[in-house]
Amino acid sequence: MIMLGPPGAGKGTQANLLQERFHVAHISSGDLLRGAVKRKTAIGQRAKRFMDRGELVPDDLVLGAIEERLQHDDARQGFILDGFPRTVPQADALAAMLAAQGTAIDYVVSLSVPRDELVKRLAGRRTCRECGTMYHIIFDPPSNPGLCNKCNGELYQRDDDQEDTVLARLEVYDRETAPLLATYRGRSVLREVNGVGSRDQVLARILSEVQRDK
Ligand code: AP5
Ligand code: MG
Ligand code: ZN
Repeated sequence: MIMLGPPGAGKGTQANLLQERFHVAHISSGDLLRGAVKRKTAIGQRAKRFMDRGELVPDDLVLGAIEERLQHDDARQGFILDGFPRTVPQADALAAMLAAQGTAIDYVVSLSVPRDELVKRLAGRRTCRECGTMYHIIFDPPSNPGLCNKCNGELYQRDDDQEDTVLARLEVYDRETAPLLATYRGRSVLREVNGVGSRDQVLARILSEVQRDK
């Protein structure tokens, strides 16, 4: 499954819930890249300046990271791609990669959320440093401020959630990623889901879409 949607639409939040339910791998290109930046790998060092500006990292870097991640054992029984593909060349490369393994994408879930709501969601987002669980200081606050409910890990704010960078990321989405929707539209894999409502309401919508016959 692919989770598509603008920054703040809830791709990571919903992918976490789906992973718990279906026990498939949750592969977030953003998390892979942030991990590479933190470890100062060759990919991380090249990716950092694009991420800091809210721009897309060049396709070859992202594709290398995803291809490697898809080889891990936990991806054999299926996977949820979160934040990838994000350009038409990435989508084409993914299709070719999967075809070579005799498989294909079953669903592309596209979450839509109005822009002013996206900005609010990103401004208040906090993420657990240890387990990656997402919170929101107003919409989904942790029981103890600054600490994860699940693992007591420290919550942090992402560098690219500063207001200027958020606006740049939203523009990049409109320009470079929204056109992907047109390529999936008209194919039976696309499921367009309203991303406004509680986390559980959105999850229920996704589940009813993926349980519906193609
Ligand atoms: P990435 O990490 O993918 O960021 P993004 O696409 O900007 O999306 P976000 O992670 O910000 O949002 P989300 O949809 O996951 O929302 P979340 O669930 O957290 O990419 C970061 C950067 O890496 C890019 O800018 C680029 O530089 C690079 N990159 C990554 N992939 C790339 C690729 N394929 N190609 C090139 N470059 C790439 O939710 C947001 C907040 O809302 C949270 O606080 C959450 O608690 C809250 N929330 C969630 N659901 C709800 C709800 N239903 N109601 C109220 N609040 C909610
Ligand atoms: Mg995310
Ligand atoms: Zn945690």
